[in-house]
Amino acid sequence: SSTPLKVAVTGAAGQIGYSLLFRLASGALLGADRPIELRLLEITPALKALEGVVMELDDCAFPTLAGVEIGDDANTVFDGVNLALLVGARPRTKGMERGELLSANGAIFTAQGKALNEVAADDVRIGVTGNPANTNALIAMTNAPDIPRERFSALTRLDHNRAISQLAARTGAPVTDIRRMTIWGNHSATQYPDLFHAEVGGRNAAEVVGDQSWIENDFIPTVAKRGAAIIEARGSSSAASAASATIDAAHDWLLGSADDDWVSMAVASDGSYGVPEGLISSFPVTTKDGSWEIVQGLDIDEFSRGRINASVAELEEERAAVTELGLI
Ligand code: NAI
Repeated sequence: SSTPLKVAVTGAAGQIGYSLLFRLASGALLGADRPIELRLLEITPALKALEGVVMELDDCAFPTLAGVEIGDDANTVFDGVNLALLVGARPRTKGMERGELLSANGAIFTAQGKALNEVAADDVRIGVTGNPANTNALIAMTNAPDIPRERFSALTRLDHNRAISQLAARTGAPVTDIRRMTIWGNHSATQYPDLFHAEVGGRNAAEVVGDQSWIENDFIPTVAKRGAAIIEARGSSSAASAASATIDAAHDWLLGSADDDWVSMAVASDGSYGVPEGLISSFPVTTKDGSWEIVQGLDIDEFSRGRINASVAELEEERAAVTELGLI
């Protein structure tokens, strides 16, 4: 269809926004045939910088970009949007307590959940990138009671892509030979990147690697702590890769995952794999036409069980904390 897809991006003047907007506008999400309209939300003090970004978007003369609107009012910016990419969040500053971080973000995602509930299009899909992504998605979802909860997800695709890249480097296989990667749990250092169900050229990845110590002491911590390593090297947090993963996730959600493969998405649990119902936890999912299904029937061995449980326990703690703060 040539009706533009209305895509909201929050935190649009931030680092991730600076990479994300240009890729969205150039057709990376839906291809060059489907125009998109951007709806960009920022806090008032960042609107001037956002105007500068919009000047640059204009200067690219992207054929797929059907229009851009900016603003600081969620109810105006989210009006009629089909896809909302919630990137803007309150970063943790030095000395900030966890509770303060959760309440600052809770306020943002409560308000944005309510606004989406009021004004988004009936087919809206909401992807949360801003951290703590899983719990922010839970807050937005809980504050948007009229939007089906399967329309919310939090981003673990960057972790998924990092895991593919690390496995490719270790095995010498091209990334296109790697399938069925899974990130389980929280987008945090407790996440569990799972090689026991992944495949390299059709063979079990853990067997191809054949080195449990590498998996435990190298692969898992490298993937889980990659964000910190990027900050250490670059002096600021991952932005282009986070933008790229945000697009990969939305692309696959709307257009479908590849046959014989799956992707990682943090979605509301239905109790699969013992993850408490309603927690936004990362699972292996297949996607098709804007919906997703958790891959069922995977055997979870003792090692994987322990890792999944640890990350899910952290999500339960976060849920308890925001419940106590009255945010959900
Ligand atoms: P940034 O600080 O450069 O940009 C964030 C932007 O959000 C700022 O421009 C700020 O003004 C805006 N913002 C704050 N409150 C807002 C509100 N209520 N409404 C609209 N905009 C608001 O941060 P960056 O680097 O772009 O990262 C954004 C978020 O993404 C952070 O929370 C970061 O931790 C997270 N992130 C998540 C990843 C993931 O894999 N899930 C990976 C990398 C970053």
